[in-house]
This record gives sequence, C-alpha cells and structure tokens, in this order.
Amino acid sequence: MKGIVFTEFLEMVEQKFGIETLEEIIEKSNLKSKGIYTAVGTYEFAEMLSLITNLSQETNINPQALLHAYGIYFFDVLTRKHAKIFEYYTSAIELLGGIEKHIHVHVRKMYPDAELPYFDVVEEGSNKLALEYHSERAMYQFALGLMERTLEHYGEKATITKELLNENGTKVLFTLVKT
Ligand code: HEM
Repeated sequence: MKGIVFTEFLEMVEQKFGIETLEEIIEKSNLKSKGIYTAVGTYEFAEMLSLITNLSQETNINPQALLHAYGIYFFDVLTRKHAKIFEYYTSAIELLGGIEKHIHVHVRKMYPDAELPYFDVVEEGSNKLALEYHSERAMYQFALGLMERTLEHYGEKATITKELLNENGTKVLFTLVKT
C-alpha cells in the first residue's frame, strides 16, 4: 500500500482524535515501519489493518465506520493533489465510471507498485451507474466514502446501494441512481 494512504490516515487521526490518540495507536500497532512513512514509499497493508483495529479500540468506533470516514477525508486530499482530473470530468457518474479505464491507469503509471482495486462497470447511463468493486483488501467502505464525496463535489444527488457479493467484502456491487 502506498505511503500516501498512511500519511493521510495519520493526519486524519491527528485532526479528528488528537495527537495523543495518534501516538497511542502507533505504539500499540507494533509497526515494522515504526509509523514513519513517506508518501512515495510502499508499506504492508497489514500495517493499515493494525492502525485501524487499534483506532477502533481506542475510539469505540467500528473499523468499517472509520474506513468510511477515511474515504470522505481522502477524497479532499485527491482534489487538492490531482485538481486536473476533477476539472476534466463534468459529472460524478462519468468520473466514477472512468476510475478503472482512466484514473487508476494513471496511478499505476505513477506508482507501478500501487495496490489498486478493480472496478467493473456493470451498467452505465446518464443517471445510473452500477460498479462492481474487486479487491482483496475489502476497502469497500473507503470506496463508499469516496463515491459520496465525488457526488458532493459535482453538486449531484444520488442514492448509493451497496451489496456484498461475498462474505468478506472483496467483491461488492455499488449501484448509484441520480435523484
Ligand atoms: C484523482 C483521483 C484518484 C487518484 C489519484 C487515486 C489514487 C489512489 C491511490 C494512490 C491509491 C492507493 C494505492 C496503494 O495503496 O497502493 C488508491 C486506492 C484506492 N482507490 Fe483510488 N484514486 C482516485 C480516485 C478514486 C475514486 C474516485 C475512487 C472511488 C471509489 C477510488 C477508489 C479507491 C479505493 C477503494 C482504493 C483502496 C484500495 C483497494 O480498495 O484495494 N479511487 N487510489
């Protein structure tokens, strides 16, 4: 997992829960990296899992809700760092339909070792998008937060339904319908 996912996660923890919680979870997580990340480095996904598990214990917020909050937070990081991509698209549905064939293609070029999800566009229309999320990291709540903020970014409203297609959430169907 790329360092930017860690550096921004730690930033969010500090902002939302304070420096003491941040230090506490880094210590409890027993990290190989010792919690020292650079944005372009690559670190084990297991470190993210430990950080989230410990943050969950510390805050009494379940891990899925924390991942969701992080998706919302991370979207704003993306709009700051990759403003051009968001200017290129004129609607949320168009952008989300383009993650696999455009956005993450560029990410792969920038960071060949990025561990990205695979999004299969099952149905695409001007008011509807059905996307199947595939990733062994099962970060579907992170994806949901990103999608919700994408809609807000373009000033659009839609209902998003999420259907887990297997028990561990490595395959999830998202259906967005504009309202
Ligand atoms: C400018 C737009 C975007 C950029 C630059 C970008 C970049 C990235 C990067 C760098 C990672 C981490 C890869 C790693 O850890 O190795 C990532 C992961 C991810 N991205 Fe994107 N992304 C963008 C937009 C989106 C959007 C709109 C979604 C909407 C669902 C999305 C869904 C995800 C998910 C769910 C992951 C977590 C990894 C996983 O589930 O396996 N991304 N992205």
